[in-house]
Amino acid sequence: MKKMILLPLVAALSLSAASEGEKLFDAKCGICHLKTRPSDKSSLVAPPLMGVMRHVKMNYQDRDEAVAFIGAYVLEPKREKAVCMPHSIKRFGLMPSQKGVVSKEELAVIASWMYDTTGGMKKGMKKGMKKKGVSPFLITKGLPHLTGMLKKRWDDKTLALTDTQKKELLRIRKSTLKAVKKLKPQVAALEKEIKTMLQEGVKESKINRKIDELAKLKARASKVHVECLIKTRAVLTKEQLRALMQKRRF
Ligand code: HEC
Repeated sequence: MKKMILLPLVAALSLSAASEGEKLFDAKCGICHLKTRPSDKSSLVAPPLMGVMRHVKMNYQDRDEAVAFIGAYVLEPKREKAVCMPHSIKRFGLMPSQKGVVSKEELAVIASWMYDTTGGMKKGMKKGMKKKGVSPFLITKGLPHLTGMLKKRWDDKTLALTDTQKKELLRIRKSTLKAVKKLKPQVAALEKEIKTMLQEGVKESKINRKIDELAKLKARASKVHVECLIKTRAVLTKEQLRALMQKRRF
């Protein structure tokens, strides 16, 4: 009996996802998440919709992934999973789980609406992502990008990389690039945000907190870099490593 009522309801919901999504959001999330930025931010109990989605989209560019992330987070919020700024959690506390308040099916509709109703990444963010100038690393000089150097001399006879080594090196490079690629747009966006805050005359202490966040992100990228270096070094023989580093000086 229960199923018979539920199924057509779910079907109906997905058919008119756009408007149903907004209605459901208003009913289930709107008490805490405002749809517009209020003039008086001191009364906020949670980040407004735009802010939430800005960070979700920075981390999950793919629509399906973003929708899945929101669905999972709402039922089981966790600090480690959160994509919002750390100070957001400090200020508002962790979001209380909405298990029992909202169903998975409803969440899919709500999250899709949230994704579609908010704009794409800001122009500056996209530009920052593409621009080579923004380095995601804390340490920008002195640490070699070993796998990049190796790629350039992939079939070099003096190096004589074996197939097994190549396979392992590619695996290391892939996971490193993936991690750095995720951090880069966040670094670019933060740098831009800091510049804007400065132009808008935001309090120095607030700007400094952003700089701390930026430093943390860049440190994470440099740790990824160092991990990659160590792993790459472990794959190479001493002779290969020496040959690689020697050429580098000239
Ligand atoms: C009782 C208040 C409350 C309700 C109701 C609520 N939220 Fe939240 N939500 C918060 C707070 C506070 C945060 C910021 C702290 C955090 O991220 O956990 C947040 C953060 C989020 C985030 C960002 C998660 C991240 O990575 O930091 C998403 C996405 C989100 N909420 C979605 C929803 C959706 C969808 C609903 C409705 C089904 C909803 N919330 C209902 C309070 C609420």
